[in-house]
Amino acid sequence: MIPNIPPGQLMLELTDATVTFAAPGGPVVRAVDGVTLSAPAGSFVVVIGTNGSGKSTLLNAIAGTVRLNSGSMRLAGHAITHWREDQRARLLGRVFQDPRAGTAASLTVLENIAVAACRGRRAGLKWATNRVLRAEAAQRLGAIVPGLDARLDQPIGSLSGGQRQIVSLVMATWHRPDLLLLDEHTSALDPAAADRVVHATATLVREHQLTAFMVTHSLKQAAALGDRLLLVHRGKIALDVQGATKRRLTADDLAARFDRLRCADQLDDTAAQTLADLYV
Ligand SMILES: Nc1ncnc2c1ncn2[C@@H]1O[C@H](COP(=O)(O)OP(=O)(O)O)[C@@H](O)[C@H]1O
Ligand SMILES: [Mg+2]
Repeated sequence: MIPNIPPGQLMLELTDATVTFAAPGGPVVRAVDGVTLSAPAGSFVVVIGTNGSGKSTLLNAIAGTVRLNSGSMRLAGHAITHWREDQRARLLGRVFQDPRAGTAASLTVLENIAVAACRGRRAGLKWATNRVLRAEAAQRLGAIVPGLDARLDQPIGSLSGGQRQIVSLVMATWHRPDLLLLDEHTSALDPAAADRVVHATATLVREHQLTAFMVTHSLKQAAALGDRLLLVHRGKIALDVQGATKRRLTADDLAARFDRLRCADQLDDTAAQTLADLYV
């Protein structure tokens, strides 16, 4: 395992990162448009933006699921711009919107956790389902959601969506990744389950002192969580706040900014930029 970067030093650096998509015969979309961004180790960055603004593409570009058309990227001290997705995977933990995405429904909770625990390890699944792993899995799950530790031998498909996302979070953070990427991982859940998953997320990020990027559609979550907030608009970072400014932001403030961006979208690019410069 590569040592984690000490707190405060840069964990992630994007320099002029651009991802474009071209539909055959259609317009070219700059889903990530010249983004320069750095995040120190230990930052918890919340990412918001309207549908199609480029949030998922930004996370996918970091994970290597999509390639940069131009620009460069460093993660945990490595120049990863040309690394394949599977090479980057050992530095990353990911949880997606669909609770079924990161887990195998027919395997038990413990077997799913064993897959995560064995990732990048030589020992096989059989070793990993031994007593040591069982005890550790029970401890980690029970600490997050009392009672979940009793479900280790049940198929993960029998869990509720919220419980499954919590197991996914425990799996994604099992080896304390350099960077945790969460893409709307609560948006398929009912509000009560979403709250529980948010609580589990905050606990895991704090306890493991993780660097995390969390995309959310919930302005309430965006106001309450994290120590930095990025508002993505048309592939660019339209707002980047941290520290006391982030702590003061309310969900209503964010809703007002969204309204202004939507209003600016009705205008042409120059007028929209003028408006953005005035308010951001
Ligand atoms: N694989 C793809 N092929 C073509 N266009 C894409 C692809 N992925 C995303 N896009 C386009 O890029 C833009 C940003 O998409 P996305 O990053 O998914 O936005 P968000 O996550 O903020 O909703 C959108 O216009 C979307 O249609
Ligand atoms: Mg998305």
